[in-house]
Amino acid sequence: MSVARFPDGFLWGTATAAYQIEGAVSEDGRGPSIWDAFSHAPGKTYQGHTGDVACDHYHRWPDDVRLLRELGAPAYRFSIAWPRVFPEGTGAPNEPGLTFYERLVDALLEAGITPFVTLYHWDLPQALQDRGGWSERSTAEAFARYAEVVTRRLGDRVRYWITHNEPWVVAYLGHYLGVHAPGMQDLPTAIRVSHELLVSHGLAAQAIRAASSQAVVGITLNLSPVESASDHPDDRAAAQLFDGLLNRWFLDPVFGRGYPLDVRERLAPYFDPPDTDLPTIAQPLDFLGINYYAPAFIRAVPQEQNPLGLAQLEPKALADRGYQLTDMGWPVVPEGLEHLLLRISREYAPRELFITENGAAYPDQLVAGRVQDDQRIAYLAAHFAAAYRAVRAGVPLKGYFVWSLLDNFEWAHGYSKRFGIVYVDYESLSRFPKASFSWYRDIVARNALVEG
Ligand code: FCB
Repeated sequence: MSVARFPDGFLWGTATAAYQIEGAVSEDGRGPSIWDAFSHAPGKTYQGHTGDVACDHYHRWPDDVRLLRELGAPAYRFSIAWPRVFPEGTGAPNEPGLTFYERLVDALLEAGITPFVTLYHWDLPQALQDRGGWSERSTAEAFARYAEVVTRRLGDRVRYWITHNEPWVVAYLGHYLGVHAPGMQDLPTAIRVSHELLVSHGLAAQAIRAASSQAVVGITLNLSPVESASDHPDDRAAAQLFDGLLNRWFLDPVFGRGYPLDVRERLAPYFDPPDTDLPTIAQPLDFLGINYYAPAFIRAVPQEQNPLGLAQLEPKALADRGYQLTDMGWPVVPEGLEHLLLRISREYAPRELFITENGAAYPDQLVAGRVQDDQRIAYLAAHFAAAYRAVRAGVPLKGYFVWSLLDNFEWAHGYSKRFGIVYVDYESLSRFPKASFSWYRDIVARNALVEG
């Protein structure tokens, strides 16, 4: 038997996001977001699913805080819906929106749980999209104002702030592949948006710090080790480019190095970000949040097929290579997390790191009120062990958030993918803690992973 004991004070937690769990999309003055528009447009999400009701967390949050208390994890990451606070993105704040989050934060603190607040988890007010969305500098400025207003209200009780969740996903899935809101398919826009998101991160970090002297400020990036699909030089070059687009394009400017030159040259024909914005992006970072699910396996494709000349290996190809896949078709590669943490720590020396999301979707079955999700337990155990090895090697990892507390609206996949450690019956909206919930509760209680 082996015991992997984590450092004292390690912040175990779970994570959620507003649009994925709240529902109540037109209550108490909330304005529409781009995800309302996108999910209601025909053919955009699995069977037309929307976040209209989701987990009804907006009404059932006291139950969810009770679940968190039962879990006993010291931290909880959630996001604030910008359109609840500013229904039109700008203008006067909507008091009931602020009150909702204030009550949630108070209940968490009362339960002894440290809140980690994400300010942008993809639900841009539609009114701002109508004026050009993240392509426009005015959206970044509105974001900073929103950050300031929220921090003024909650900053005496909330210390940990995350400006953005996964700007790569917002830029590329939302504006180049078009599979996320706002559903655009335009490479120059995607690159411009990636830059504006980074600028808005910098502006918001300044605004948060101006509003609260005790704020601890970070950003969450989705990072992955990138593997070449073969030794062929074309595949290797494509993998190098993808590493640049996914990882270095965001890490380098945030850590004060400007954009990586190889990627910049490649993207310049589409959009070349101005150097004058670099100091704004490079605000001091108290911590870096990493969302890790799987490595990326990249192969070269003809440029006629897509302008970047690369593609990810399909799930079938990964399965043929012997990888286990989750219900998302993502390969299970726990060592990828260890390698990623070591690399980030070596190359960027962040002050502190948090895994702000990690978890897996499996086709869970509710049988007599129980869900025996052994695959999820195995996935998490292997990833916790990988994180532990990185901690032992000196990586300043301070906490780990499991995605997710609840099964929820998995974006374009609707409710067809279940990531929760709590099962949600979408008919009755009842919650059923899965086997992984009890398993995780034990880990949190011991602050250790016991194996064998
Ligand atoms: C991440 C998102 C999160 C969730 C997981 C599965 O990309 O940040 O909202 O959907 O993937």
